[in-house]
Amino acid sequence: MEEQMVENTSTQAPTQASSAGRKDIFEKCASYEEANRVRQLGVYPYFRSIEETRGNEVVCDGKTKVMIGSNNYLGLAQDPRVIEAACEAARKYGSGCTGSRFLNGNIRLHEQLEEELANFLQKEAVLLFSTGFFANQGALATLLEEGDAILCDRENHASILDGCRQSAAKTIPFAHNSADALRRRLARLPETAGKLLIVDGVFSMSGDIVDLPAMTKVAKEYGCRIYVDEAHALGVLGPKGEGTVHHFGMNQDVDLVMGTFSKSLGSMGGFVAGPEYVIDYLRHKARCFMFTASLAPAVAGGVLKALQILRSEPELMEPLWKNTRKMHEGFKSLGFKIGTTQTPIVPILIGSEVKAFMFAQKLYEEGIFATPAVFPAVRYGEAIIRTSYMATHTEQELDYVLETFGRLGREMGIFDDEAYTGGTKRNGYDFSSPKQQDAEAVRSATGENSSN
Ligand SMILES: Cc1ncc(COP(=O)(O)O)c(C=O)c1O
Repeated sequence: MEEQMVENTSTQAPTQASSAGRKDIFEKCASYEEANRVRQLGVYPYFRSIEETRGNEVVCDGKTKVMIGSNNYLGLAQDPRVIEAACEAARKYGSGCTGSRFLNGNIRLHEQLEEELANFLQKEAVLLFSTGFFANQGALATLLEEGDAILCDRENHASILDGCRQSAAKTIPFAHNSADALRRRLARLPETAGKLLIVDGVFSMSGDIVDLPAMTKVAKEYGCRIYVDEAHALGVLGPKGEGTVHHFGMNQDVDLVMGTFSKSLGSMGGFVAGPEYVIDYLRHKARCFMFTASLAPAVAGGVLKALQILRSEPELMEPLWKNTRKMHEGFKSLGFKIGTTQTPIVPILIGSEVKAFMFAQKLYEEGIFATPAVFPAVRYGEAIIRTSYMATHTEQELDYVLETFGRLGREMGIFDDEAYTGGTKRNGYDFSSPKQQDAEAVRSATGENSSN
C-alpha cells in the first residue's frame, strides 16, 4: 500500500491508473475532444500567437491583421506616454513587488492610483486587485454571507458568477436587464435577508447597457445594495469616461463600483470603489487581495498615466463613438443582426457553431483578427463573432472590415442560417457531440473547399 502511494503515475494513461476501480481525476482530460475536433478542421480560432502589436494591427504568422477583437477601446495600450510611465515605474521600483500589499508589496504608486481613481469616480475609497476577476471574486466572496442573497443578471460576466459561487450567499439569477424579473425575485425573499444586486454596466457579450434607473428603483424598494461592474464602461461611457453609473448620473445611488484596467486603461488589474469603511473591510478580509502579489510597478505606473490621460483628454472618446456608430449602421445595412448593442462591443450573429468557426478562420485569412463566441457563452445555434472597436481604428480599416464581412456573409450563406430565417431547427455541427464528424462533411456543409 505504502509503495502504491508513492508510485509516480503522472505519465500513465488514465485507464491504467484507474484500473483498480479508482477514479482518476485526469480521466476527463484524456476524453476531452472538442478542441481537437476544431483543430482537425483547421478552424481553431483561439490562442493565436501575436508576434507584434502595432496599434490597431497585429502581426500573426508573419502577416498583418486588423484587430477587431480587443478591448483596448481608447488605444491607450500603445500610447507612448503610457509605455514610458510603465518603464519609469519599473526602473524606480523594479520588475515586481514580490509580495502582497498587506506585507512588503505596497508601493506609493498603488496608493496614488487608488487616490486618483477614487477622485475620478467620486467614491470615498478604492482598493486595487491584481486582476478584474479577483476584484469581483474578492468583493463578493468577502461581503456576502450565509443567509444573504445575490441578485445576479443572467448575462453577468464569469468572474461575477465565480465570485457568487465562492460566497456563502444564495445566488438568484434574473432575466437579462429586466427590472420586472428583479422585482419578482426580490419579492420572494425574506425581508431580513441581506441583499445585493450585481450587474455589468455594459454587458461583455451583447454590448448593451444596463437599465440602471429601473434596476436601482426596484433594488431600493427592497433594501438591496447595488454593485456595478464597469469593466467595459470605463473610458467608454459617462461625461469623462467614468462609466455607466455616471452616464446615468446615479453615483449617489450605487454602493459599489468595480472596474478593470485591462480594457480602456490598456493594462491589467482591477479595483473596487465605495465607502471607506467597506473598502477597509475588504483590505483586511478579501483573501484574493491579501494573499496574492500586488500589481507590478510597470502596471501601476502605466495605468496611472492612462487614467491621467483619460481625465485630461475625455475627447479621446469621440472617435470611439464615431467608429461605434459607423459599425452599428454598417453591419445593420449589410443585413447582419447585431442584437441589442449600444456600445463599441458589436456581436455579429452568425448562427451555427461551425459556421462561426469557419467565418472567423476566413476573416483571419483575409487579414482580420476576431474570435467567435459559441455555446455555452451564447445560446446554442446563435454563435457570434464578437467584435469591438477602438478610437484609433481608421475609416479605411473599418470599411475593409465591413466589406469583408458582407462578402463572406453572402458567400457562406450566413443570411440563410436558421438564426436569421427564424427556424427552430439548428443546422450547426455540435462540437460537444460525442459523434465524430468528418472534416470533409463539415467543410462541404458550409460550402468550404476541402483543399483549403
Ligand atoms: C464584465 C467583466 N468583468 C470583469 C472582467 C475581468 O476582468 P480582467 O480581465 O481584468 O480580470 C471582465 C473581463 O473580460 C469583464 O468583461
